[in-house]
Amino acid sequence: MKPEIRIFKNVEELSLAAARLFVEQAASSSAERDRFLVAFNGGSTPTRLFQLLATDFRGKVDWSRVQVFWGDERCVSAEDAGSSYGQAWKVLLSHVPMPSSNLHRIKGELGPVEASKDYSLILRGFAAPPLEWPRFDLVYLGMGEDGHTASLFPGSPVDVSQPAVPVTAHYQDRPADRVTLTPPVFNSARLVVFMASGKKKADTLAKVLRGSHSPELFPAQRIAPTEGRLIWLVDEAAASKLPPE
Ligand code: 6PG
Repeated sequence: MKPEIRIFKNVEELSLAAARLFVEQAASSSAERDRFLVAFNGGSTPTRLFQLLATDFRGKVDWSRVQVFWGDERCVSAEDAGSSYGQAWKVLLSHVPMPSSNLHRIKGELGPVEASKDYSLILRGFAAPPLEWPRFDLVYLGMGEDGHTASLFPGSPVDVSQPAVPVTAHYQDRPADRVTLTPPVFNSARLVVFMASGKKKADTLAKVLRGSHSPELFPAQRIAPTEGRLIWLVDEAAASKLPPE
């Protein structure tokens, strides 16, 4: 299915759209399957989304039905400033009425190999047979200036069958040892929503969305849901190099 690209004036408008998608997906998934499986991403972009879900949109969600996962994690403690779980807990999850048993974090403190194994077992507990992992109802992803997404970085192995793998990556000053979900998991999701903002990402976004298919170079291109929808929420700055369709 062709990705849908929605361009917004700024991060605030982009984040409002991301929050509305959360509410819509949570309602439809809960109605159809009595639960809503969502995977969050880390980095700076989702912060405003988390704030909106904790405030303006808090009352629009049945949080008891929400099961929270992560698309990737840095191998640090949950209390570390670099923890994606820690960021979501501080800004959103500690402010909503959700049982702690609904939080399924990647235990980065175990180190990449053990944390990957542990997370694969957690995923298996929500498997959608014949898959060994859940069909996520909603996955949020970001995109780095180098075209990575989650912790799938340029040059990382493309053919991966396991649901979660250990990674050592060097990106900006962020923690290097990580765990990431792999494309088979992301691509089995019902809805994948990328969020990308800022002019620093404009060149890469144009290559990812309109350039040649080079998933080794641009891992964000590996995300193509087999049956689900793919929506890119981008601001005008990030979209400034996109050629007209
Ligand atoms: C992470 C994310 C990563 C992030 C991109 C974009 O743990 O860092 O999963 O894939 O989404 O690096 O990060 P920004 O939103 O900070 O630009």
